[in-house]
Amino acid sequence: MAPSSDVIVLVLGVVLASLYLFRGHLFNSSPKSNTTVTSVNKEENGNGNPRDFIEKMKAGVRHFLLPFYYILNILLQKKRLVIFYGSQTGTAEEYAIRIAKEAKSKFGLTSLVCDPEEYDFEKLDQFPEDCAVVFVMATYGEGEPTDNAVQLMQNLSEESFQFSKGEHKLDGLKYVVFGLGNKTYEHYNVISKQVDQHLTKMGATRIGNRGEGNDDKSMEEDYLEWKDGMWEAFARVMNVEEGQGGDTADFAVSEIQDTIAPEKVYRGMFHSFPTIEHSFVYIFVPGELSARALTRSKGIHDAKNPYAAPIALSRELFQNTHNRNCVHVELGIEGSGISYQHGDHVGVWPSNPDLEVERLLCALGLSEKRDTVIGIESLDPALAKVAFPVPTTYATVLRHYIDISAVAGRQILGVLAKFGPTPSAEAYLRSLNTRKEEYHAVVTEGCLKLGELLQLAAGDDIRATPTTANTTAWNIPFDTIVSSIPRLQPRYYSISSSPKLNPNSIHVTCVALKYDSACSRIPPRSVYGVGSNFLLNLKYAANGEIGSLVSQGNESLFPAYAIEGPRGAHREGSIYKAPIHVRRSTFRLPTNPKSPIIMIGPGTVSHWVVCHV
Ligand SMILES: Cc1cc2nc3c(=O)[nH]c(=O)nc-3n(C[C@H](O)[C@H](O)[C@H](O)COP(=O)(O)OP(=O)(O)OC[C@H]3O[C@@H](n4cnc5c(N)ncnc54)[C@H](O)[C@@H]3O)c2cc1C
Ligand SMILES: Cc1cc2nc3c(=O)[nH]c(=O)nc-3n(C[C@H](O)[C@H](O)[C@H](O)COP(=O)(O)O)c2cc1C
Repeated sequence: MAPSSDVIVLVLGVVLASLYLFRGHLFNSSPKSNTTVTSVNKEENGNGNPRDFIEKMKAGVRHFLLPFYYILNILLQKKRLVIFYGSQTGTAEEYAIRIAKEAKSKFGLTSLVCDPEEYDFEKLDQFPEDCAVVFVMATYGEGEPTDNAVQLMQNLSEESFQFSKGEHKLDGLKYVVFGLGNKTYEHYNVISKQVDQHLTKMGATRIGNRGEGNDDKSMEEDYLEWKDGMWEAFARVMNVEEGQGGDTADFAVSEIQDTIAPEKVYRGMFHSFPTIEHSFVYIFVPGELSARALTRSKGIHDAKNPYAAPIALSRELFQNTHNRNCVHVELGIEGSGISYQHGDHVGVWPSNPDLEVERLLCALGLSEKRDTVIGIESLDPALAKVAFPVPTTYATVLRHYIDISAVAGRQILGVLAKFGPTPSAEAYLRSLNTRKEEYHAVVTEGCLKLGELLQLAAGDDIRATPTTANTTAWNIPFDTIVSSIPRLQPRYYSISSSPKLNPNSIHVTCVALKYDSACSRIPPRSVYGVGSNFLLNLKYAANGEIGSLVSQGNESLFPAYAIEGPRGAHREGSIYKAPIHVRRSTFRLPTNPKSPIIMIGPGTVSHWVVCHV
C-alpha cells in the first residue's frame, strides 16, 4: 500500500489536472488570448485588500494557464519569502528579483517581490513564522531612502507607529538585508544599515550577514560574494535543503501566428499607445502604472510613463568635437502636465543602438524573425512581471525594453553556457562564469556586451558588422533572455534650466560618454554610453546633421539609433522627440537669495547651479 502522503499527492494531482483541463468552464478564465495586454496584478491580488502582502502570501499564485506540475509544486510549498525593494533607478529591484529566482531554483521556494510603496506595513507583526522577509534597499540623496521606500522607513523608525497588535515590535520576524550604495557618498549604504538597526531593535532576527553592494566598484561582485553565505544561513534558519528547486522558466514566450492588427503590437511604447495617426491614447496597464502616476491630479508622466517631449533646440557646447561632445538640448513640456523645480532631474529614456540590436538578433538566430509578433507571459507573476507591454516583437524587446548594451554580468554567463553552439563556446562561458579574475580581465576590462561576448565565445569577429553569415547563432530560449537581462533604464540629467525663466522647457547639458576598452586580449574598441549618445544622435537629427549617423565600418564614428521612435512616433516633420519624465530632488538652493554659495562641481552637474544663480 502506498504511504498516505503519496495518496494525498496523487488525489491532489488528479483534482488539479481536472481543474487545469476544465479551467475555462470552472473559472471563467478566458482562453489564452494572443492579443491581450498582460495584466498580472489582478491575478495575483486575490479578491482582498491589494495593499495587504500577508493576504497575498496566503493566497499563493493562482494561474490556471500554467502546466499542472507547476501548480502542484506551488500548492505543496510551505515556506515563502516576501522581498521589498527600495529602488530609484531599478538596480535594487533587479537584485530583489534575482534573490527571488535563486530562492526558487535553490530551495523551490516562491516569493512575493514587492514595491513597498504599494503595501501597508501594519501586518508585518503577523508575518508567518516559517517565512522570511528580505529588504533590498538603495540609499539616495544625503543618506535618504528612495521615493518608494519613504513610508516603509517611517513605519520602521517611528516608535509611535503601531503594528496590528498595537505595539512597535516585530518579535520573531526573520529577515535578510542587502543594501545598495556608493562609497563615494558620505552616507554610504545608510538605509540598509538603518533597516537592520530598526528591525533588530524591534526584536526581529537577521538571517546571515547584512550585504552591502558598492556601486562605485562592483555591485555584482559584492552581491555574489555575499549571497552564498546568506543562503547557507538561510537554509539553516529556515530548515530548507538545497536542490529542492529546479531550472524552471520565469516566462513563456509564444510566437503569435494569428493575424493581429498592427496598431495592437507594441513597438517600443510603454503606456502611451500610438494610434495609426500617431496621436496618443493612454492604455492603462493595471499594476504597471505607479501609484504616484495614478493619484496625481495633473500629469501622469513619471518613471513608469514617459512623455515624448519635442526638441525645441539643441547644440554642441564643445568647440573641439574631435573626440568628445557635450550637448545642450531643450525639451518642450508645454501641455504635458509636467512641471519642474530647480534641482530636479530629467529622466531620458534611450533605446539601444542599431549595432547592438543587430548583433544580438544574429547571435540569437532571430535575424529573420525580428518582426515576428510575440506574446510573453509571466509563469509566476508574484516573482517576475513582464516589464514591458505585449504583444511585441523580438526586435522591439532588444531595441527598447532590455539593457543589451551593458557589460555582461558574470552570473548570466553560467545560465547561458549550456546553450553554447560548440563545446568550446560552452566551456569559454563557464570559465568566465566561475573564474572571477578571468571574467574581470576579459569581460570587465574588455567592456564586452552580451552580444559581443556570445560572438567572442563562438570564435566570431566582434569588429565586423554583424550579419547572419559572420555571427554564430546560439539556441538560447528567448524567455531566458527576457528573464536574465535587466530592463533598459532611463538615464538621469540634472535639469539645467530655471522653471522661472523656462516653465515650458527643460534643458539638459549632457556629455556624450565615450571611452576605450582596456583589455590586452581583445582588440581595443571605443565604447559608447547608451543614453548620452542617444541624445547626441537626437541633436544630430534635429539639426539635420544626419551624415554623422551613417556608419561606414569605421569604429570612431558614432553609434546610430532608431531615433524616429516606434512607428515614427518620435518625429513630426523636422521635429524630433525624446521620451522623458521628471524626478523630484530634495536638493534645493537656499531660499534666501542673499545666502552666499560656494560652487564646486566636477563634470557637468554644476552647470544648473550656475544657471539658477
Ligand atoms: C542624478 C544624476 C544627475 C546627472 N546629471 C547629469 C548631467 O547633468 N549631465 C551629464 O552628462 N550626466 C549626468 N548624469 C549621468 C548620466 O545619468 C549618465 O550616467 C551618463 O550620461 C552616461 O549614461 P550613458 O547611458 O551614456 O552610459 P551607459 O551606457 O549607462 O554607460 C555608463 C557605464 O559605463 C561604464 N564606464 C563609464 N566610463 C568608463 C570608463 N572610462 N571605463 C570603463 N567603463 C566606463 C560605467 O560602468 C558606467 O556605469 C547624471 C546622473 C545622475 C544619477
Ligand atoms: C543622486 C544619487 C544619490 C546617491 N546617494 C547615495 C548615498 O547617499 N549613499 C550611498 O551609499 N549611495 C548613494 N547613491 C548610490 C545608489 O544607492 C546606488 O547607485 C544604487 O545602486 C542605486 O540603486 P537603484 O538603481 O535601485 O535606485 C546615490 C546615487 C545617486 C544617483
